[in-house]
Amino acid sequence: MIVSVIGVGYLGAVHAAAMAELGHDVIGLDVDSGRVAAMQAGRAPFHEPGFEEILRRGLAAGRLRFTTDYAEIAHADVHFLGLGTPQRADGFGADLRSLEAAVASLAAVLPARGGGPTLVVGKSTVPAGTARRLRAQLTAVPGADLMWNPEFLREGFAVQDTLAPDRLVYGVAEPETPAADAQVAMLDAVYARLIAGEVPRLVMGFETAELVKVSANAFLATKISFINAIAELCEATGGDVTDVARAIGMDDRIGGKFLRAGIGFGGGCLPKDIRAFIASAEDLGVGEALGFLREVDAVNQRRRVRVVEIARELLGDLAGQRITVLGAAFKPDSDDVRDSPALEVVSRLMSAGAHVTVTDPEALDNAAKRVPGLVGEPHTEQALAGAELVLLLTEWREYRGLDPVRVRNLVAAPRMIDGRNVLDPGAWRDEGWEIRSLGRGAGPANGTSVVDGPVARPDLPIPA
Ligand code: UGA
Repeated sequence: MIVSVIGVGYLGAVHAAAMAELGHDVIGLDVDSGRVAAMQAGRAPFHEPGFEEILRRGLAAGRLRFTTDYAEIAHADVHFLGLGTPQRADGFGADLRSLEAAVASLAAVLPARGGGPTLVVGKSTVPAGTARRLRAQLTAVPGADLMWNPEFLREGFAVQDTLAPDRLVYGVAEPETPAADAQVAMLDAVYARLIAGEVPRLVMGFETAELVKVSANAFLATKISFINAIAELCEATGGDVTDVARAIGMDDRIGGKFLRAGIGFGGGCLPKDIRAFIASAEDLGVGEALGFLREVDAVNQRRRVRVVEIARELLGDLAGQRITVLGAAFKPDSDDVRDSPALEVVSRLMSAGAHVTVTDPEALDNAAKRVPGLVGEPHTEQALAGAELVLLLTEWREYRGLDPVRVRNLVAAPRMIDGRNVLDPGAWRDEGWEIRSLGRGAGPANGTSVVDGPVARPDLPIPA
């Protein structure tokens, strides 16, 4: 099939290359000519494991190309909308302007195709009601209709999540009608390889599909803030949040994933999506239903402030102190620094007058663009040299595996804040480190429990 992907940011770029990987003829369109030129030359504009390989493979096979010109995509059978929906500058709501502009530009060129079924498929994260409004922009185009097919990919796993998703969600204007069935069949043809691989596919109304996506992100954000709220309780009582998470996560109704306490969630999705969800509920007159998401956001913000308080507890006045921060990206395996908790902590430390050196395997260039005056050092050992305090804020593999003895010989004073709970505090303390972790109290009793297998219960009879 001939497929276009409009908007080749993170989501769209990966989707375009993945569709070429599935064997389709793909044209990616973006208004950013620099981005289009880079991708046409086989250069990934962001760090994403496996993406550059499928980009180059698609280009080399002649199945993938990029353009800035809508006229060049008019003939496609299916048009995916991969545009960003960032937080509006004037409030919590989502800014849908690029999405609306793209549909208008597409509607203007589609008649040139001369009829025949054309499917426009929204993938962006949007408030419920958006798909129905966008569909109205297409009513004048014969043969064109709209579906909503939210994307659930995670940065760092984007290629895998696109080519082997947990599920496919299809939103249609009027479920169980012949028109909807025809659209479902057309999108099934695009995803034929995935469906043959038994990826579950769910068909539902527009609003439900839109709500699935924002509910999923709101639930994930809630899970993280829940465990971070418990971390606050652990700090007040001397408990250990990692043991709480491990123990409650063994109940498979709760599940252990997304219960990693630390400096909280960031990135281009969860923070803005929960805010847009709150704004949307308020617009719909049911703001109370999502009132708890304000608290989810507040817990998340408090963790960033708490790290700086711990730094003060360790160093006193931060002015003039040499602090090294490991990690700038909002998560490992990404160079994305949008709403990065690590970078916000860096900014707060810099504002307090600390001399901060930041290191990150991929995100230093993006970090320097966001934080004026940022001192970046790409080599971990050089970044650590002479530090009076080290903060581990993004859990890249190389930081998780740091050797406490080797690092102690580089720094000026062996003090560490583990903002992601990935180091073994006992092992670091044994090597002379003063180490503080979020939600693990400050006492030596924490970080030492070892309960990996089933625990013997002497109060229970031994089964025959
Ligand atoms: C998130 C969702 O996980 C995807 O399913 C969704 O498709 C995507 O948003 C989107 O809407 O586009 P992503 O932003 O790539 O994906 O990142 P996550 O893996 O969800 O991590 C988000 C943040 O939460 C990171 O800062 C991470 O460090 C933090 N996190 C994650 C925790 O603090 N604790 C955890 O236990 C898990």
